[in-house]
Amino acid sequence: MIAELRRQLSEIWAHSDRLFDLVPSSAWSERPIDLRHPLLFYVGHLPAFAWNQVARSVLGLGHLNEEFDELFAFGIDPVDEDGVPAAVEWPPVEAVLEYRDLAREQLLDLVEAVVDWPVDDLMARNGRIFQVVFEHECMHHETLQYMLQQLDPALKRRPADMEDYRFERGCDSRLVEVPGGEVVLGAEFSAIEFGWDNEFPSHRVTVDDFAISNTLVTNGDWHDFVCDDGYRRALLWRPEDWAWRNRFGLQHPVTWRKPGDSYRLRTLFDELDLELTAHWPVAVSLAEARAYCRWKGVRLPTEAELHRALYGAPGTEQRIYPWGDAAPNAGVHGNFGFANWAPTPVGDHPVGASAWGIEDPVGSLWQWTSSSFVGFPGFEAYMPGYRGYSADFFDDRHFVMLGASWATSPRFIRRSFRNWFQDRYPYVFAGFRTVERS
Ligand code: AVJ
Ligand code: FE
Repeated sequence: MIAELRRQLSEIWAHSDRLFDLVPSSAWSERPIDLRHPLLFYVGHLPAFAWNQVARSVLGLGHLNEEFDELFAFGIDPVDEDGVPAAVEWPPVEAVLEYRDLAREQLLDLVEAVVDWPVDDLMARNGRIFQVVFEHECMHHETLQYMLQQLDPALKRRPADMEDYRFERGCDSRLVEVPGGEVVLGAEFSAIEFGWDNEFPSHRVTVDDFAISNTLVTNGDWHDFVCDDGYRRALLWRPEDWAWRNRFGLQHPVTWRKPGDSYRLRTLFDELDLELTAHWPVAVSLAEARAYCRWKGVRLPTEAELHRALYGAPGTEQRIYPWGDAAPNAGVHGNFGFANWAPTPVGDHPVGASAWGIEDPVGSLWQWTSSSFVGFPGFEAYMPGYRGYSADFFDDRHFVMLGASWATSPRFIRRSFRNWFQDRYPYVFAGFRTVERS
């Protein structure tokens, strides 16, 4: 177990390094998204988080570097730009890299101490705290990609082995009738190897019959909304969403551009004719998705409905994975795990479809729900060193997303995993399905 935990640490760190290397370190002071810290913060955040969790919280050791352990401990998540803290004077890159390397070296040494920890401690048992560290770092791999997508392309290096984009239509869109029934949300603590606090405990919810789109809403669909003045008609938007739209002068999704008469789509490394990407799912905020739904006379699924659409099956049984029991295979069951550097056309991974024929249940983009992020009945912030992981966001401003995006690690492909963001945060790799009836 010790060797395996060390191997996984090294593998994840190597992935982090590859992702940071997409930008030369001279550009790490860039802040591609106003509401987030500069890239350099994340270089320090990953080792600081790991050190604080493993060494300080579980083993009760002291600081590695008092200033950096605190400075890089947590990110920011303000509601709007008024909430952004005053500019910090960030340390030089070399000092942060030195801190990172020292933390890594010592963490490798501490694996044994955690696994052999004489105290009966939940976070030490079976090295659970390392699952926290692995998954945290993998979440930031995705966060980093959506930040980099907002960064000036001239500052980025393309990965040498980048796959070609896929544009061909995968399948036609249609409505899928899902019969009402019981949904088991969450998991029992002992039933899964690792889960975050918000995944426990499990409970049953009943949903009525509903009809949901087999595919995510596409760029082509969204183009119709834009051309029908979707971003100019106040009545399609909730008042708070409209105020946000006005504040930023939003005329289209943040990754779209309109240099001349036609639209273009910005991926991490390229700007493509939007028309080429017509079959890709559209990435938008929940606020924009709501306006689209009002325009179409449809609605977003609730968390329980979407869960049933993705994991439910005829009868009461739920599947382990949408497609069945086989372990997630990146690029086969769906566009996740960096199988591509962008979304793929909807319906491009039929092997991964759910029992009801829902296409891309995990992959390409996360899927918004209309449900605010709450703790399940009996929720407990079980991690002593990180009580606020979820609870800090039970504020009715954050909403649940299910599924996965192209930048999501296969680790997160589990039935109980829940992701969440603010409804007016437009940068994440998230799209949506629409529901009609009931
Ligand atoms: C669970 C993806 C919403 O990125 O804000 C990373 C994950 N928490 N560091 C986020 C997280 C602390 C979180 N999300
Ligand atoms: Fe973090």
